[in-house]
Amino acid sequence: MILDGKALSNKVLEDVKERVSKLSIQPHLVVILVGDNPASRIYVRNKKLAAEKVGIKSTVIELPVTVTEDELLGRISELNEDKDVTGILVQLPLPEHIDKNKVITTISPKKDVDGFTPENVGRLAIGLEPYFYPATPQGIIMLLDEYNVQIEGADAVVIGRSNIVGKPMSQMLLKRNATVTTAHSYTKNIEDKIKTADIVISAVGKKIVRCKMVNKNSCIVDVGIFRDANGKLTGDVDFDCVSPTVKYISPVPGGVGPMTIASLMYNASKVYV
Ligand code: GUN
Repeated sequence: MILDGKALSNKVLEDVKERVSKLSIQPHLVVILVGDNPASRIYVRNKKLAAEKVGIKSTVIELPVTVTEDELLGRISELNEDKDVTGILVQLPLPEHIDKNKVITTISPKKDVDGFTPENVGRLAIGLEPYFYPATPQGIIMLLDEYNVQIEGADAVVIGRSNIVGKPMSQMLLKRNATVTTAHSYTKNIEDKIKTADIVISAVGKKIVRCKMVNKNSCIVDVGIFRDANGKLTGDVDFDCVSPTVKYISPVPGGVGPMTIASLMYNASKVYV
């Protein structure tokens, strides 16, 4: 069965729109884009379009690649204090002269719609409710729940350990009582681990999940998105030969991508200040 992220994302966006229409104040998401990374520009545009669609006010602040770290931190501090702003997102990656972790740490946890600040990450880790869960893993959990994929007690393999996807994904599956393996480039016998897993979440950015590695009861979620040698959008999973074998699989495109945006909009509709 195909985990249809496009279809579910539309449902989630409808729910968010309804939720926003009932709020006493209009949420306002501010997205900061530093420099002119073409992929980042597209992501930011898509976030702005989605926000408009659900009735969330959005502002994009574009800063030149030459902006200093102090200037950027200053802008964030102003937004933290601004009562009109309910969500702040700094698009990653940032130029090398800017310390990403300093930037993330400066964002107010109650406006941290990415769920990347130490307070929100720490809350998730110690079993307190974070103000926001990171969008991609949260969108994946929504997708698994929509299709009644059992998480509790499942053997889950998360491939990748980034702060944006892999690590929070592992934490969220653990919170839902899965047995989680976080695999990465140093992991031994990754094929065997994938072969016996009930749930595989791949967030690597290269072809890694191959035909013979999966089992017939498994659920495969593909977070990767990149262009192959022919310029075609593809994911981490060899979809054509894996999909006939497994029980559930998310496509690329049309799986995790639209869910990430919808999940971010859900976050942006939460107002704490
Ligand atoms: N760059 C790639 N993914 C993300 C994300 O989820 N949030 C931010 N802020 N930057 C990103």
